[in-house]
Amino acid sequence: MTAVNSVTDLSRAGEIAVVTINSPPVNALSADVRNGLRDGVAKAAAAPEVKAIVVICAGRTFIAGADIAEFGKPPRGATLLELQGVLEGGPKPIIAAIHGTALGGGFEIALMCHYRVAVPSAKFGLPEIKLGLIPGAGGTQRLPRLTGVEKALDIILSGAPFSAQEALQWGVVDALVEEGQLREGALGFARKVIDTHMLPRKIRDLNEKIEAARGHPEIFEKVRRDYAKKFRGFEAWQSALRAVQVAVDLPFDEGMKLERQAFLDLIPTEQSRAQRYVFFAERKVWKIADVPEDIPVLPIRKVGVIGAGTMGGGISMNFLNAGIPVTIVEAEQDALERGVATIRRNYDNTVKKGRMAAADVETRMRLLSPGLDLGVLSDCDLVIEAVYEDMAIKQDVFRKLDRIAKKDAILASNTSYLNIDEIAGVTGRPESVLGMHFFSPANVMRLLEVVRGAKTAKPMIATAMQLARKIGKIGVLVGVCHGFVGNRMLHQRQREAQKLILEGAMPWDVDRVIYDFGLPMGPFAMSDLAGLDIGWSKATSKSSTIREILCEMDRRGQKTGAGYYDYDEARHAKPSALVEKIILDFAAEQGIKRRPIADDEILARCIYPMINEGAKILEEGKAQRASDIDVVWINGYGWPVYRGGPMFYADLIGPEKVLTKLKQFEVTMGAEFKPAPLLEGVVAEKKRLQDL
Ligand code: 3HC
Repeated sequence: MTAVNSVTDLSRAGEIAVVTINSPPVNALSADVRNGLRDGVAKAAAAPEVKAIVVICAGRTFIAGADIAEFGKPPRGATLLELQGVLEGGPKPIIAAIHGTALGGGFEIALMCHYRVAVPSAKFGLPEIKLGLIPGAGGTQRLPRLTGVEKALDIILSGAPFSAQEALQWGVVDALVEEGQLREGALGFARKVIDTHMLPRKIRDLNEKIEAARGHPEIFEKVRRDYAKKFRGFEAWQSALRAVQVAVDLPFDEGMKLERQAFLDLIPTEQSRAQRYVFFAERKVWKIADVPEDIPVLPIRKVGVIGAGTMGGGISMNFLNAGIPVTIVEAEQDALERGVATIRRNYDNTVKKGRMAAADVETRMRLLSPGLDLGVLSDCDLVIEAVYEDMAIKQDVFRKLDRIAKKDAILASNTSYLNIDEIAGVTGRPESVLGMHFFSPANVMRLLEVVRGAKTAKPMIATAMQLARKIGKIGVLVGVCHGFVGNRMLHQRQREAQKLILEGAMPWDVDRVIYDFGLPMGPFAMSDLAGLDIGWSKATSKSSTIREILCEMDRRGQKTGAGYYDYDEARHAKPSALVEKIILDFAAEQGIKRRPIADDEILARCIYPMINEGAKILEEGKAQRASDIDVVWINGYGWPVYRGGPMFYADLIGPEKVLTKLKQFEVTMGAEFKPAPLLEGVVAEKKRLQDL
């Protein structure tokens, strides 16, 4: 075995040369890896005794893509075109031996090889679209030549991985070899290539499937229609479509050039920068400054959930899905039965949509034990309380839990606003208490705020974070404050939205601006969906806000067929003339002189106070980093990933601009706009929030 460079070895097995890449953690296609591949393969090809070459990777995976951290930096090392020259253009058959995840540029390298073998557990894909990019090393030109245009478009636009079995079926790999025996299997395949005199097979020369699509623009039109909704606001997908269209219409080399240019044009766009930032942000969240990564975590074999309402049921489903038994407790038999029935109905609906096998519903339901007494939670490793949002009620539950739960159990509250320390304070074990704030619908939304109390012990935090990962959530560690990170910032937007409709806008104006910015819905549509009466009571209602007036009129949102909007049978929203009149009358009574409000102002009023609140959250150490706040907003509230989250957005438009506007608002509208000192500091020092 000889070293080609620091990440590449060249070895021999008879007439077969083996080029091994070893660049942990994921063998990303960095300059070193590109150089090693180019030089290793060239050297092997030049050796007269070598008849075939195997390219394989050490560690957990085949090349998992271009090195995302390299994008936007000055180019270095071997180019992809050079690699194409030595791989596809090489004189001797080259076999890619694939395990782990051959993604993006890694998959494209495999497609430059003449043959591909993989272990059954290998995964393939072109996830560039998720980074606001398109494949830039021939993916849009080669893949359609193997799979046909429709399948290739689906793979490129979904960005979703596919299995080795699918790869075999679609002609993407030539053979599957035994799990754990990749090297031997690849050598066996190479020997067959040599023995049967198989020539280098270049995908670029396979034109049959391309020709089948030529003169059929309807293929592209259909895909454009199918994806338009999913990609509302996104840019890169149009380039991806065009690149595949070019593969159909133009010769291979021209297609390659156009693809490359489109890829390079996308790298500096705001959208791709934002999406690459989010890629790294979602990986940073797991790192906790003072909790070592190797701290021992507690085994969670059984979970208890208190409350079988919408939240409790949704929370339970996460664990059932992960194969963890759940004991769910309600005070009344009726409510318990309703809760269990809802869980089953949700699963049955998933089966109806074809996304789950009927047998899997039974497996899950068998893991669920309903109970009417907290006593049944005594053997749970984690208990999550999801009862009514009221401090006295929650404290009462925790007092009881303290007596019942086993010694090492984690006691979690699903509160969305309340002070975890006050809850922990009624127990004799505040070190075991933390918040696990799920977002509704809890079985669907990816975000989990893990709330660290003043006394929460580190192993408990590490366990909750690891559990989040296990149930497919993205866990963000936050500190104790009213509403934690997400709802605390949301409150700012809600307050401004309410003011805006009195000052001159209508709910549908505000909603349109927020929707056009890229969120799935605006604040008023969101209130109608959630129900206007959350936290409202008839007894204390004093017609002192628009919301109270609407609740008093039984316009409590979608569930009552009316709220800020009117709804038809199919729950389609229509602006309401009645609500308009209520708002105008109310504003007049309050002596507010209405004025036209421009979209720009609506946006700034809704978003800048959120950014300011985010800065305060950072200042107070309630979030670890600005990017954690962004992860909360993207995964919990549907902030468009192509705008990177509110803090990244502030960096993008310039913290100075945000500060100036906040100061203006402070003068004209009052203290709630007073800029956070941290924001002032960032501007004074010409820094970015994301670098703090
Ligand atoms: N570039 C740079 N770093 C990468 C990387 C990449 N392509 N892929 C992963 N990493 C880093 C991660 O940031 C992480 O670093 P950290 O330990 O410091 O946090 C580490 O590798 C491990 O990654 P994960 O935590 O994500 O590990 P998993 O085992 O959960 O997942 C994976 C592995 C499936 C490979 C996942 O990392 C992944 O999806 N990676 C990105 C794949 C991708 O998007 N490839 C396409 C890139 S664009 C491209 O190729 C352009 C081309 O067409 C020219």
